[in-house]
Amino acid sequence: MFKLFVLAVVAFGGVTGLDNGLARTPPMGWMNWQRYRCETDCDKYPDECVSEKLFKTMADKMVSDGYLKAGYEYIIVDDCWSAMERDEEDRLVADPIRFPSGMKALADYVHNLGLKFGLYGDFGTHTCAGYPGSINHLELDAQTYASWGVDYVKLDGCYADSDIMEEGYAEYGKYLNATGRPMVFSCSWPAYQEPLGEESNYEALKKTCNLWRNYDDIMDSWQSVNSITSWFVDNQDRLAPHSGPGHWNDPDMLIIGDFGLSYEQSKAQMTIWCLMAAPLIMSNDLVNIQPEFRDILLNKKALKINQDELGIQGTMKVFKNNIAAWVKPILPLSSTGEYSYGVGFISYRDDGIKYPIDFTFEELGLDGKYGYDILDVFTGEWVDDGTDIISVRVPPSGAVFLKAIVI
Ligand code: GLA
Repeated sequence: MFKLFVLAVVAFGGVTGLDNGLARTPPMGWMNWQRYRCETDCDKYPDECVSEKLFKTMADKMVSDGYLKAGYEYIIVDDCWSAMERDEEDRLVADPIRFPSGMKALADYVHNLGLKFGLYGDFGTHTCAGYPGSINHLELDAQTYASWGVDYVKLDGCYADSDIMEEGYAEYGKYLNATGRPMVFSCSWPAYQEPLGEESNYEALKKTCNLWRNYDDIMDSWQSVNSITSWFVDNQDRLAPHSGPGHWNDPDMLIIGDFGLSYEQSKAQMTIWCLMAAPLIMSNDLVNIQPEFRDILLNKKALKINQDELGIQGTMKVFKNNIAAWVKPILPLSSTGEYSYGVGFISYRDDGIKYPIDFTFEELGLDGKYGYDILDVFTGEWVDDGTDIISVRVPPSGAVFLKAIVI
């Protein structure tokens, strides 16, 4: 009887639990959606259409320009990659004009560069852009992805009933696991509940998914970054506890280097996303990106805070004079177990000057008995003046990003 019980528990655990050992730190990579959308006209826009050429070009850049070395390892193909019809065996196929070599060949190309390969799908009848969805082929599609060498699946939730997503995504996750190929599982089901005011089941998400899109799609503007950030702040006490190694809240892509954010606003997005322990999935043009934007994305000190092994999601602690102060506990710990912290100050002001403002350690929750050594993440300079007050000057719609290393 006991044996049977144990067997049942093992079998049940294998069926429902996400146990792929992946995404121990927030996933990092590149995805085409926000920058390239669903451009399919390769005659008119040969360098911008969703095609194997685009992904090979970006994969090459990820390696040659240091992104892979910095940790950006996944290159992810978003919507609009497939043909409009499945093949005679019901399998998804890549669009033959834009991906003439097929997805397996593209995955091989990416793997040969030392990168990992991600692919989009949709739980419903159609993808958001109207391509075939997986609802009636969940197992077959998981197997097809595995046979192509996919390492990361983004499963969207357009054209689907949000009431069956919790169960349906778990079923798909079970099929992913059953392929034996480790694949990061990025789920979108909260993005079809939370924006409508419906709270998602984060315990279920943690069991099924490595990361999940909680809220609206990011657009190419500071306003969009703000709207997403303020939703996460409004809900941070509910969301942050669910973040950790293997399972992450995902506020959507980094738009640094695109059209919409200034240099200072780009530093602000980087600061917030790093402190939120958010997945860092860039969506930009790596060929034409200006060096100062690339430097933000490759900033080692910022990435180390994002990739901190504890995986604690930082929160917005204090808001005063239109400056938001964010705090994220990180390693190293002091000899008595107190945290170090990533600390970010984001300005929502527009009076031109760099605004001077003080925050005490106490109001930020920095409680290390012997204080902190404080490093400016973007300038690389030590800023500690031996007091228990942090004095900063924050540029309009910009950020100051510090690392407070506990003594
Ligand atoms: C949804 C997702 C986006 C993108 C598009 C593709 O809107 O949230 O991230 O994948 O679909 O159509």
